[in-house]
Amino acid sequence: MKVMVTGSAGFIGSHVAEALEADGHEVAGLDLARGDDVRDDAALDRLLPGVEAVVHQAAKVGLGVDVGDLPGYASVNVYGTAVLLAAMARHRVTRLVLASSMVVYGEGAYACREHGPVRPGPRAVPDLDRGRFDPVCPRCGAAVQHAVIAEDAPPDPRNAYATSKLAQEHLAANWARETGGTVVALRYHNVYGPRMPRDTPYAGVAAIFRSELEAGRAPRVFEDGGQLRDFVHVRDVARANLAALRTPPLPGTLAAYNIASGAPHTVGQMADALSGARGGPPPAITGGYRLGDVRHIVASPAKAEAALGFRAEIGFEAGMKEFAWS
Ligand code: UD1
Repeated sequence: MKVMVTGSAGFIGSHVAEALEADGHEVAGLDLARGDDVRDDAALDRLLPGVEAVVHQAAKVGLGVDVGDLPGYASVNVYGTAVLLAAMARHRVTRLVLASSMVVYGEGAYACREHGPVRPGPRAVPDLDRGRFDPVCPRCGAAVQHAVIAEDAPPDPRNAYATSKLAQEHLAANWARETGGTVVALRYHNVYGPRMPRDTPYAGVAAIFRSELEAGRAPRVFEDGGQLRDFVHVRDVARANLAALRTPPLPGTLAAYNIASGAPHTVGQMADALSGARGGPPPAITGGYRLGDVRHIVASPAKAEAALGFRAEIGFEAGMKEFAWS
């Protein structure tokens, strides 16, 4: 089928476009790097005729630098998605796969010995300054144990990017209900791999560490390095998009899935893996922190496996080894 990929020249979008073509689909690529903006009706009206499904990857990503980034996230991610959805309705395109993010959950899931499952609020600055990085039970202040988060966890976006990703899901759900269309929202965990954007303040941690190692500097690990993430390889993420296209939900509905490897690692372990693969220098644990960061976010990949038949195939060691030199 003919599939429009927004952000087709970007990190994830380019891998999705390649995977679609390898699977025999025709790709209509839209990318700002090629002069087409997702917020531009004229570009959409030119590219959408004949398209059966849209895979929406174009976005302003990352945590942002400061509040000056707010309009950019709202414009590119929220307004851009609204323009795209309206254009899809005009052209009777009824299938959408949306690049969402685990950042919609905010802090991950935790269990308190006394109070069971809890969702801690944002960490307090005085605690972070004292090096107390782990969240505590919001009811009794005791230490909590992290747990896996499933798709039905209530959203709790903690920064402008997260808010914009959640808004995209809501707008897409509104569009589906109005048009009878279908949406698969893929909540990516920490995607890494070849072509990951580098040397920008918006880059993900794996790319930042690799750039530091390339320059002969130690990767600077924030907090105590014990924060857990699920690093998932970009080629696995591209396969998840294909699976999502093959498995739309019921007409008029949105289905959301964690796209994760299912094998979480700490940021410290990731720094060690990249540093080891490149022969050093060893990581430096700085004890610094970023206010918008969450501590642990670990997902259950079970729903994506059950419903989409998607399971990540590229392991952490092999993936990081390849990435270290890509
Ligand atoms: C990342 C992405 C987000 C995406 C999500 C899911 C970025 C900036 N964030 O969120 O867009 O939606 O994955 O795919 O791309 N860290 C260091 N040293 C550094 C930089 C970061 O130790 O130099 C730490 C951070 O404090 C944090 C962890 O690494 O604890 C992860 O940071 P980051 O890569 O920004 O990812 P997420 O916030 O998890």
